Amino acid sequence: NTGKLWGGRFVGGPSPELEALSRSTHFDWRLGLYDLAGSHAHAKALAAAGLLTAEEEAELHRGLDALAERFVAGTLLPDPSDEDVHGALERLLIEEVGPDVGGKLRAGRSRNDQIATLFRCYLLDHSLAVGGLLLDLVDALAGQAETHLGPGIGAVMPGRTHLQHAQPVLLSHHLLAHAWALLRDVDRLADWRRRVESDSPYGSGALAGQSLGLDPELVARELGFTGSTANSIDGTASRDFVAEFAYVAAQAGVDISRIAEEVILWATKEFGFVRLHDSWSTGSSIMPQKKNPDISELARGKAGRLVGNLTGLLTTLKALPLAYNRDLQEDKEPVFDSIDTLEVLLPAFTGQVATLAFDTARMAELAPQGFSLATDIAEWLVREGVPFRIAHELAGACVRECEQRGIELHELTDEEFAAISPHLTPAVRSVLTVEGSVSSRNGRGGTAPERVAEQLSELRARVADA
Ligand code: ARG
Repeated sequence: NTGKLWGGRFVGGPSPELEALSRSTHFDWRLGLYDLAGSHAHAKALAAAGLLTAEEEAELHRGLDALAERFVAGTLLPDPSDEDVHGALERLLIEEVGPDVGGKLRAGRSRNDQIATLFRCYLLDHSLAVGGLLLDLVDALAGQAETHLGPGIGAVMPGRTHLQHAQPVLLSHHLLAHAWALLRDVDRLADWRRRVESDSPYGSGALAGQSLGLDPELVARELGFTGSTANSIDGTASRDFVAEFAYVAAQAGVDISRIAEEVILWATKEFGFVRLHDSWSTGSSIMPQKKNPDISELARGKAGRLVGNLTGLLTTLKALPLAYNRDLQEDKEPVFDSIDTLEVLLPAFTGQVATLAFDTARMAELAPQGFSLATDIAEWLVREGVPFRIAHELAGACVRECEQRGIELHELTDEEFAAISPHLTPAVRSVLTVEGSVSSRNGRGGTAPERVAEQLSELRARVADA
């Protein structure tokens, strides 16, 4: 009993070099419990088809349970001679229940339909774990948004386009923009699950299906799927479910990296928008004064790794002929890595976000600078009946005047405004404050405090539903 699942037609064993290349137990062992669950379900299907007696079936379930117990305890280990998790577990099962019963379990299934099923089960579980961690980050952003909403208009900041001051916005509005992007990633995972849950490939065999009268729907139900694969070739050869998962992981990584980049900038002396919590930042081995945003930098770096995993996978899949090819064994490590990466990154990143201390006075001081209220002048003129094309010119003339003299828009006198245009009456001052500017953007989705409060409730309702 060597754990080798083939050999009948071979004279002599495989070379050690081939074995070393072929072996996958160092990464597919993590699918062990899913493989055992698949075997339980398959034993039921064999018994239902009359291919196992009740005693044999019971003995198989007992043996599989015994292996699961040792697997969980960490005492069940693959042997170097095992090619993959499937071969290793068959060898160990035969050690447990003997070759007569143990040797019956492989009938009507192939490692090709096994792996396609187990991998789905593993990803389904981890999609829930990763989704939960993403929701924790959404909660942390929502918590910070709520803290900085009011009293009054709440915390403001310079909103930017092209990284240049553009228009003042509420800090809460800005933080929630990140939360919505992450919520879409959670939604993508749910959408992915709907497709994968209904598609159990067990019963596809190597590629052509099975001839033993087994019921794939029975196996599907046992494993928590809502249905089985309609085409056995598709069931064993497709890996778009892996690539799609890797895409969502990469997209989440990219979304996180955009927050990370801002935290890194905000924590600089030049910005001075945030202070990092001591427990969520790091020091330098030589420069005693340093406090570094390592969590954000690692997040930014790991986004590259997540994109790389997706790219590698798609490259492996490109132009692969149907049906199963051993190339497909290369599908696991990248997506395992994506999951491990997000599962270690997200708790740290969420902790960092939840403990950011914003210097709201500094942000408020900078919010109106860089002529960020120029659009407010133009839109005020529009409300006074001036065509926008002219209003834009006049507001631009105000900026030009201020820039030459090194002052901000609100520092222009009434006379100076009037000299630029008689339309610019002293009433224009009502919009020359950050409060006035922010409060005036009160259409749905805008940065006015009441709209942001509404938005926060909408987001929270979506989180509760997710
Ligand atoms: N370990 C393989 C994989 O991960 C499954 C085994 C299929 N091997 C085979 N020779 N058909 O894809």
